[in-house]
Amino acid sequence: MRIVLVGFGVVGRSFAELIDREARKLELDYGLRLKIVGIADQKGAAVSDEGIDPRKALESKTEKGTLEGLGAEVYTRGMKAVELIREADAEVMIESTPTELKRGEPGLSHIKMAMQNGRHVICTNKGPLAIAMPALIELAHHNDVMFKFSGTVGGGTPVLDFAKKCLEGSEIRSISGILNGTSNFILSKMAAEGVAMADALAEAQRLGYAEADPTYDIGGFDTACKLVITSNYVMGSSLSIRDVDIRGITEVTQEDIAKAKAREGVIKLIGRVGSSAKVSPEVVSSTHPLNVSGTFNAVCFDTHPAGEITLVGKGAGGMETATAVLRDLIEIRRTFTR
Ligand SMILES: NC(=O)c1ccc[n+]([C@@H]2O[C@H](COP(=O)([O-])OP(=O)(O)OC[C@H]3O[C@@H](n4cnc5c(N)ncnc54)[C@H](OP(=O)(O)O)[C@@H]3O)[C@@H](O)[C@H]2O)c1
Repeated sequence: MRIVLVGFGVVGRSFAELIDREARKLELDYGLRLKIVGIADQKGAAVSDEGIDPRKALESKTEKGTLEGLGAEVYTRGMKAVELIREADAEVMIESTPTELKRGEPGLSHIKMAMQNGRHVICTNKGPLAIAMPALIELAHHNDVMFKFSGTVGGGTPVLDFAKKCLEGSEIRSISGILNGTSNFILSKMAAEGVAMADALAEAQRLGYAEADPTYDIGGFDTACKLVITSNYVMGSSLSIRDVDIRGITEVTQEDIAKAKAREGVIKLIGRVGSSAKVSPEVVSSTHPLNVSGTFNAVCFDTHPAGEITLVGKGAGGMETATAVLRDLIEIRRTFTR
């Protein structure tokens, strides 16, 4: 299977490392022979019909910060990802550029270009889905390609496919979940150690869980993106992020945490969708399965007639997300070799 990687950061590089390390096993177990025929980052792109050695690409990116170490016959500085997607002879495009929530770019243009050129798409970038998921699903149908995005929710924890495949036959009435590891780390630390929000946030930044600008995580926007994607995929809604009522954790105080504790509860940032969609801090009973600590994610499906079913796992991480991309690739291969 010939693939193009658009975005060669934490996720893109973890994926390259994973398929390099597991090449033999992937072929033996799944008949998956993967060849990277193109890689784009912000500075340029590399294209090779014969295939790009993932090791060499990783070495070049580590040593030079670009892909120019692959050689002048392969690498073009300034080449745009859309050109690469159009020109490279690939079956699948893997999109892992940064999430942007105003216009969903540059991911949205990459996905459209790939689908219009008959490439299957695997996306870990939440921006295009939060803005235009129903339209992208329609475009994929129209062009007879698959559109997979397992890595956008839950990192390596298979939240979307668990709900879609394992809960088949049940009615999912509502979904509630802790979908952002950074916020959960901060709230857990505030509750366990009595520290203020600013100190817990500083610790999350020191450990690399939070960005220098943490608004996306603690403002509730990342949770809202994941809620939109989960609701649309699992419950068949047509939401965009504009339909979600969003309140983050910035105003949670030690006093709120103490009040929750007195009621045998904990404060968690919950994304909730049923008849409406919202993100806000809520008091959760300390014995409820959603009470996970640290950077863990937990998603609770309220199903009929089976009742509440909760899935817990690590919600992010480069290698974890790369495993989700791999699951998507395996599904694409299975679907198209039947
Ligand atoms: N990291 C995680 O644990 C995780 C988990 C789930 C989902 N995600 C999502 O997956 C996506 C990628 O995450 P990441 O952590 O890998 O991000 P990252 O480390 O910041 O990497 C982003 C990559 O995209 C490239 N890029 C930026 N603009 C581009 C453009 N216009 N054309 C081509 N390439 C462009 C960057 O190029 P340069 O290298 O030249 O800067 C970089 O290689 C994000 O949307 C993120 O929200 C991440």
